[in-house]
Amino acid sequence: MITTSERQGEDAHMPVLTAKNVVRRFGGIAAVNDVSFDVRKGEILGLIGPNGAGKTTMFDLLAGSVAPSSGEIALNGTLVSGESAHRRIGRGLGRTFQIPRPFPNLTLIENVMLAAQKQAGERLLSNFLQPWKVAAEEKAAHEKAMDLLDLVKLTHLADEPARVLSGGQRKLLELARVMMADPAIILLDEPAAGVNATLLETIIDRIRDINARGITFLLIEHNIDMVTRLCHRVLVMASGQLLCEGTAEEVARDPRVIEAYLGGAA
Ligand SMILES: Nc1ncnc2c1ncn2[C@@H]1O[C@H](COP(=O)(O)OP(=O)(O)OP(=O)(O)O)[C@@H](O)[C@H]1O
Ligand SMILES: [Mg+2]
Repeated sequence: MITTSERQGEDAHMPVLTAKNVVRRFGGIAAVNDVSFDVRKGEILGLIGPNGAGKTTMFDLLAGSVAPSSGEIALNGTLVSGESAHRRIGRGLGRTFQIPRPFPNLTLIENVMLAAQKQAGERLLSNFLQPWKVAAEEKAAHEKAMDLLDLVKLTHLADEPARVLSGGQRKLLELARVMMADPAIILLDEPAAGVNATLLETIIDRIRDINARGITFLLIEHNIDMVTRLCHRVLVMASGQLLCEGTAEEVARDPRVIEAYLGGAA
């Protein structure tokens, strides 16, 4: 159970995100099996483990696209396990996808603007009654989206359709998109996958920049070099369970981790 003190929003050291005894079964298989951890405010926490360990399923549970079979999830001290993914975005939880799927025929700027929260333009009545307000919000959203495209070094492609992007550029567009909703924490699912070495450095730099602005990260990644360089702390999952926790160096030499990876490869 998540206790009352964990739920109260006053403690500066309170975790941004908490998973407690989270289980998710698919048929007979527990893809996530009794996993508990905290993500501390301001950290970059890594989540690693062999293919099929349950990492993406854990993200789906945290973000609300999959409901837990049992267990609890709290965001900034508020229990959110029963809330929709959309509601959790509004509470400051952003996530990127293992396989980004931008709208291919919309421009980059349009793709980023779509991720804005609480736009008056989405409400028909205010659109009708206060068109000036809608226009001002659109302009502000456009400026913010341009700033974010600048942050991820995609300004030169702002008016191109998203379909022209390489895999690596799509990962950067994802980062801009998720930032549009002003997240307190961002869950990144394999930001380095399919990314060339130069773009990888850009992604690492951008994650550092965004983290320096006070945004917390939970990062799934197979690229151990990236995990070692970025993560303050690393969690290891295997077969749905949390195996261990430590610095990247510590977990890399943990015999249970080595065994899990070797077992996965066999
Ligand atoms: N919707 C689903 N229905 C049935 N089984 C699922 C579903 N989603 C995931 N699984 C299963 O849960 C397990 C964990 O999968 P998951 O995608 O979470 O692993 P992962 O750690 O992200 O792996 P990878 O590193 O390959 O991305 C796998 O056995 C997978 O087949
Ligand atoms: Mg995955």
